[in-house]
Amino acid sequence: MTIFSNVDLSAANTLRLPCQAERFAAPTTLTALRQTLAQACRKGWPVTLLGGGSNVLLPEKLPGLVVRPALQQFWLSQHQGDVLAHVGAGVSWHTLVMTTAARGLWGIENLALIPGSCGAAPVQNIGAYGVELADTLQAVQVMELATGRVDWLNAQQCTFGYRDSIFKGELAGSVVITRLVLRLSRTPAPRLGYGDLAARLVGSLTPLAVAEAVCAIRREKLPDPQVLANAGSFFKNPLVTDAQAVELLHQYPAMPHFPQQGGQTKLAAGWLIDQCGLKGMRDGAFGVHQHQALVLVHFGGGDRQGLMKTASYIADQVEAHFGIRLEPEPRLVNPY
Ligand code: EPU
Repeated sequence: MTIFSNVDLSAANTLRLPCQAERFAAPTTLTALRQTLAQACRKGWPVTLLGGGSNVLLPEKLPGLVVRPALQQFWLSQHQGDVLAHVGAGVSWHTLVMTTAARGLWGIENLALIPGSCGAAPVQNIGAYGVELADTLQAVQVMELATGRVDWLNAQQCTFGYRDSIFKGELAGSVVITRLVLRLSRTPAPRLGYGDLAARLVGSLTPLAVAEAVCAIRREKLPDPQVLANAGSFFKNPLVTDAQAVELLHQYPAMPHFPQQGGQTKLAAGWLIDQCGLKGMRDGAFGVHQHQALVLVHFGGGDRQGLMKTASYIADQVEAHFGIRLEPEPRLVNPY
């Protein structure tokens, strides 16, 4: 178990925000993780958990200990005619998608090219192209920070919602996700209803073909964090009442809208920002991506404070135009 001091995390978050961690560890086994957490407990170091860094807003200084679980196990097992994928928290999500799709397994092919680690995936219930992690997730293994005790949650206990789960609420800051179990299938089950996904697919329909079509769409619209720093969608798509949606549709008949359960309608935050004329705008070190208004990009030299200023400006403009307040999607990691 190695604990490093004064680690620069600017390359460990896809927004490339400057961040100095007082201490950093990346344990590769449950035993090493337990020992690391025990030491933090003994010394009174506050613990911050980090996955692939693709959905976090880091402060300039992080005191205490940053832990990035690097458990890399992966295996498949048979279960009642389906296939269970068991995967360690440190495995890259995209690698898991491409590996299972290449083996002809259906279930997560629509979630290709989402950056980040498998351990981070349940926290915000990652979703794209009509599919969410919650659709295939069977169980999550967690380790309690305070005791090192390992426990399992089934999908129901995770209380998944749109970009939401128990790991953002009740269990935030008290457990580390260490392993996922996903239920995949050899029986063809393509979900091609979102956008122009179906139109992109010609020839034989395999999980790999779907994953590759999703990658192609994402590459066209979303900036590659290796080239231009970003954290994917910066705002959540807002939920409004059906009555509010009807009122807005009178004014904007072309407004994308997605009816949900419980008398609510989801609107497209990217469309709202775009309508305010903000697509492609630049504000110092930050800007709105030119092909997808929901993505904020970092051109370099900025920090979290600057990013939050740009984000507030955008949210203010949308609120002034539509009376809807947008909320950031990435997790705000606070200094203690
Ligand atoms: N739109 C615009 N202008 C824009 C962006 C979008 O008019 O600049 C319109 C589109 O034309 C479309 C609607 O808004 O009618 C929705 O756009 P899109 O299909 O691109 O999806 P999104 O709602 O902007 C969500 C997820 C993405 C996910 C896509 C595809 C959220 C916050 N974002 O984006 O997730 O990839 O759907 O399923 O739910 C992420 O979470 O980081 C992410 C990229």
